[in-house]
Amino acid sequence: MKALIAAGGHATRLRPITYTLNKHLIPLANRPMIEYAIEKIVDCGIREIAINVNPGEVEIQRVVGNGDRWGVEITYLEQQGGPKGIAHTVANAASWINGESFVFYLGDNIILAPIKSLVERFERDHLDCLLALSHVDDPQRFGVPEIKDGRIVRVLEKPEHPPSDFAVTGIYFYGPKMLEAVTKIQPSARGEYEISDAHTWMIEQGCAVGYEEITGWWKDTGKPNDLIIGNNFILDLIAEPSIAPSAQIAQDVRIEGVVTVGERVTIDEGSVLQGPVCIADGCHISGSQIGPHVSIGANAVIRRATVSETILMDDVVIEGGPKITKSIFGRSARAVASEQRGSCTFIIGDRAQIEW
Ligand code: DAU
Repeated sequence: MKALIAAGGHATRLRPITYTLNKHLIPLANRPMIEYAIEKIVDCGIREIAINVNPGEVEIQRVVGNGDRWGVEITYLEQQGGPKGIAHTVANAASWINGESFVFYLGDNIILAPIKSLVERFERDHLDCLLALSHVDDPQRFGVPEIKDGRIVRVLEKPEHPPSDFAVTGIYFYGPKMLEAVTKIQPSARGEYEISDAHTWMIEQGCAVGYEEITGWWKDTGKPNDLIIGNNFILDLIAEPSIAPSAQIAQDVRIEGVVTVGERVTIDEGSVLQGPVCIADGCHISGSQIGPHVSIGANAVIRRATVSETILMDDVVIEGGPKITKSIFGRSARAVASEQRGSCTFIIGDRAQIEW
């Protein structure tokens, strides 16, 4: 089996972060999101992976590389004509897929459980398509299956009146019939080739379309709050604390729960780290209360601050100010409390968000 990862698209709902950083490289627990997708695929024993990227995209290739790290071969496929829909990424990859079965993984999906059992079910039952379903509170945001007598009879994309409370998750298993399906559909009202239409086409053609309910945690990280929740869950998975040998932690720093600290980090007196917390190399923290559920990118400086449930990327600076929670700071973002009490100074880029 091969695997195709979708990592193109517009990511408008994650602006302003995605103005300067590809959505699939947003760090969760200090690792680019797409690496979690790659690892789930590698765990299934799959060795050939293609990543669909927007035309001209080079950042993902630079960060992810050629797959050597995982002992696999990674190929990059530019989506010709740009992001024209998820089904279009499959059509675009048809010659690379070359008639084989494949896992199709949306690079912004995060799932905790292994997917190997789904691959086994797909192969054992000789399916043309296996959909992984998850119960959600807001099915209007997803592809939603209509199920009758234990079979999916059609799949609707972002329906106003969902026929079930299942979302079709972005982890799909296909035989070669899918390559035909994606050539048979037309763009939807929003101008995209919808994966749900390809699924409905397969069902109408009498293909073997099965489904499996995912009972563990799954998330589509389409909106900022989804990233915070995803970060929380991935931090919760880190089982072992670790402090790099070159880190310098003052004696009175209180450390509770699972905390990982990178090389050359200094944590001065008066700080509290309440795990899970993940601190990358070269950070400097003093007089601050960090955690729970905080990931801090490399070379960040945090002084006199209180931070929980937050993603801080590389080179962030935070000094003083009120408690920061459920927040995302892009690279080199700064939040420095004004010396003059009662006044604030902001340099806010397009689509920045402030809530207090
Ligand atoms: O996450 C599950 C949902 O994903 C499914 O329930 C929906 O049926 C499916 O359409 C999809 O909906 P989204 O609205 O979440 O799709 P989004 O536009 O966010 O794109 C999903 C991923 O695919 C994301 O990693 C970007 C990538 N992508 C998207 C498009 C439109 C591409 O690589 N190329 C594209 O042309």
